[in-house]
Amino acid sequence: REVHYFSEIDSTNNAAKKLAADGCPEGTIVVAEEQLTGRGRLARGWYSPFGKGIWLSVVLRPPFAPMEAAKCTLMAAVGINRAINAVTGAGCGIKWPNDILCKDRKVVGILTEMSAEMDAINYVVIGIGVNVNMEEQDFPEEIAATATSLAMAAGCRIPRMKLLTAILAELENVYSTVKTSGFAPILAEWKNQSVTLGQQVAVNGIDRNFTGLAVDIDADGALLIKTPQGIERVLAGDVSIRP
Ligand code: BTN
Repeated sequence: REVHYFSEIDSTNNAAKKLAADGCPEGTIVVAEEQLTGRGRLARGWYSPFGKGIWLSVVLRPPFAPMEAAKCTLMAAVGINRAINAVTGAGCGIKWPNDILCKDRKVVGILTEMSAEMDAINYVVIGIGVNVNMEEQDFPEEIAATATSLAMAAGCRIPRMKLLTAILAELENVYSTVKTSGFAPILAEWKNQSVTLGQQVAVNGIDRNFTGLAVDIDADGALLIKTPQGIERVLAGDVSIRP
């Protein structure tokens, strides 16, 4: 596969989008030691210090309709969660839609970006940030209470190359499962690994805020929340799990 490695870069997602727009093959990856302006969801930044994490973007050209792009994120979360648990034994789970948590704190964020025209996807860039070897004091104050690293969770340093190799192998596995057997097996595994389902959650939507019980995720990856008014369906946004 095509691998683009950088010591430092603005954002691996930016580089991957340029490569994808220029026609790079599916499976091309961009990986960097440090991101100067790593990007998170909802216009947030992503803290990406030198040598302490895996800052990775993967280019896919999936045969899905543009509306199904959320499947890429869910599928990636399942693959990454498998790899992390296999390599570190840290016991991580998936928080809807695309975070991986360890002991209630975030270790992985996924930012999926898509280019589509008419009814076909041109490319999908799956951006993956894994906090691997940070120590408690490494995190900026704003995220110190909510973020953690695999090393902190596992109690030992994690070899990044071994983890990166495992992540890429599992991403290939989940992607070929989706292409050969459809999305159902991945959705089932997502539900099984979920730390969101069965919890009281608060939804911070763009136009609405409410609370309820997260009961299921539907075939499109939307979260279904039971409220006194009925079942609410949330396709995008943020949920927090209430203690
Ligand atoms: C989030 O949880 O808000 C998503 C964070 C995604 C971070 C990764 S790091 C590699 C890739 N490049 C970026 O600029 N962002 C993603």
